[in-house]
Amino acid sequence: MRQVRTLGLLGTGVIGGGWAARALHFGIDVIAADLKPEMEEWLRGAVANAEGALARLTFAPLPPKGRLSFTTDLHAMARAADLIQENIPEQLELKQRVLADVSRHAPADVVIASSTSGLTPSDLQRDMLAPERMLVAHPFNPVYLLPLVELVGGAATSAAALEAAAGFYTYIGMHPLRVRREVPGHLTDRLQEALWREILHLVNDGVATTGELDDSIVYGPGLRWAGMGTNLIYHLAGGETGMRHMLRQFGPCLKWPWTKLEAPELTEELIDKMVAGTQAQAAGRSIRELERLRDDYLVAIQQVLREYNIGAGATLRALEERLYEDAAAASRPRIAAAAAAGAAGSGGGALRLLETQVRPEWIDYNGHMTDSRYLQVFGDATDALFRYAGIDDAYRRSGHALYTAESHVVHKAEARSQERLYVMSRVLEVDEKRVRLFHSMHRTRDETLVASAEQLYLHVSTEAGKVVPMDAAVHTRLSALQAATR
Ligand SMILES: NC(=O)c1ccc[n+]([C@@H]2O[C@H](COP(=O)([O-])OP(=O)(O)OC[C@H]3O[C@@H](n4cnc5c(N)ncnc54)[C@H](O)[C@@H]3O)[C@@H](O)[C@H]2O)c1
Repeated sequence: MRQVRTLGLLGTGVIGGGWAARALHFGIDVIAADLKPEMEEWLRGAVANAEGALARLTFAPLPPKGRLSFTTDLHAMARAADLIQENIPEQLELKQRVLADVSRHAPADVVIASSTSGLTPSDLQRDMLAPERMLVAHPFNPVYLLPLVELVGGAATSAAALEAAAGFYTYIGMHPLRVRREVPGHLTDRLQEALWREILHLVNDGVATTGELDDSIVYGPGLRWAGMGTNLIYHLAGGETGMRHMLRQFGPCLKWPWTKLEAPELTEELIDKMVAGTQAQAAGRSIRELERLRDDYLVAIQQVLREYNIGAGATLRALEERLYEDAAAASRPRIAAAAAAGAAGSGGGALRLLETQVRPEWIDYNGHMTDSRYLQVFGDATDALFRYAGIDDAYRRSGHALYTAESHVVHKAEARSQERLYVMSRVLEVDEKRVRLFHSMHRTRDETLVASAEQLYLHVSTEAGKVVPMDAAVHTRLSALQAATR
C-alpha cells in the first residue's frame, strides 16, 4: 500500500472536518470532497476552530502544516489521494453506492476507510473494486483531539490494508484499536449505546434528570475511565483476589438484572425531557462555547496522562518521541560529517541543525512569532544535537539528563506566520558536567538573522537532583562537536 502524503476526504461534515484538522496539523496534505460547495467555507472554519487546542497538545517539533484543497468532484479527489476516508451520512445504500463509485477511480493500492459508527465493512465493501483495501476506521468526536480509531476489516479486507492504515493513523497521533471480528456498532459504540439506553430509561421512568445522570458519571467513574477502563477498575475493586472476587460478589446482580437492555420507546414526551434536560445543563452556553471548554480539558487531561504514560497520554508520549526523533534524524548525517571533519582537525563552523516553519498558532498580537516559541525552536535544535551525542529517551530513562541552567536570547528581526526558518548551532564549551551552546536562527528566504541564543546546560542525575559527570561516550561526542563547530 502507498505511503500517505495526501489524505482524501469524502464528506466534510463534523467528522470530515475533524479528520482534516488532525491530518493537516501533522503535515499531511488534504484534498476534501463534498457534494455541497458551501461545505468548503464550513470546513475551513472547522479547521481554524480546531487549531487553538491542537496547538497546545504538544510542543514537539512538527513538520510544516499540510495544505488543504476542496473539490465537489469526488473522482478527482479519488485520483489524487493516497488514502481515502469516507465520512458521508450513516446510510448503508448511500455509502455502498458512493464507495463503489469512488473505488473505480482510486488506484488499487489506495486504502479506502469508512468512518461509519456501526455499519460493517463486509456490507460496505460489497460492490467495490479491489475491496481488499477497504476497512472501517471509526474515529471519535472531536477527531482532532481524541486518539482512538477502531480498525475493522471485512470478509475481503487484506492484512496489508489494515497494517498500512494502522501505520498512517499512528503517524497522525492516533491509537488504532484492532477489532478482531466485525459486529454492528464495533466496540465503543456498543458500550456507549448500552449506557445511553439506560439513560433514556431512567429519564423516561422519571428516576433522574439528564443533568443528574451526567453527574453520576462525571464526578465518579468518568474520572477513572480516562486512565483505566471498567475491567481493570473492577479488578482493583475486588481487593487482593481482584476480578475473581468481584465476579463472585457482584455476579448475581447481573442476573436480576439492574439494567433493562431493550431501548424505551422514543415518545415525544421522552424527547422533550431529554432536550429540556440538556438545555438546562448548557445553561445558555452555545455549542461553540461548550466545544471550546471540552477541547481545553481534553488537551489538559492528555498532558496529565502523559506524565503517567497511560491511555491517551501514552499515545501522546510515543507521538512526541517520534516527532523529536524525526526532527533529529534529518540533521544526523550533517552532524556526523561535521564531527568527523572536526576529529580530523578541520572544524567547519556552525552546524545547520533544524529547518522549521512559523506555524500560524505561534503568532502573537503583533503578528510576529511569540517569545516562548523562540525558546522552543532553539530547544528543538539543542535536542537534535544532544540526541546525536547519545542523550535520548533511553539515556534519560537511565536517570541522567541535561538541564537548562541559563538562556540568553537576543532578538534581531521578526518572524511572520508561515516564514521558513533554520537554526545554526555551535558547541562553545564542554566539560564533564557542563555544555555551552550558541544558536542562531535565520529566515530561509534571505538568511536574515532573526535571533540568537546562548545556553548553558548542566548534566544531572535526575534521581539525586545533583550535577554529576556525564557518560564518557557522550562527553567524547560532544567534544568532537565542539572541535567541529569551532
Ligand atoms: N458525528 C459523530 O460524532 C460521529 C463520530 C464517529 C463517526 N461518525 C460517522 O461519520 C460519518 C459522518 O458523520 P457526520 O456526523 O460527519 O455527518 P455530517 O452530516 O456532519 O456530514 C456528512 C457530509 O457528507 C456530505 N455528503 C452527503 N452525501 C455525499 C456524497 N454522496 N458525496 C460526498 N459527500 C456527501 C454532506 O454534504 C455532509 O457535508 C457517519 O458515518 C457517522 O456515523 C460520526
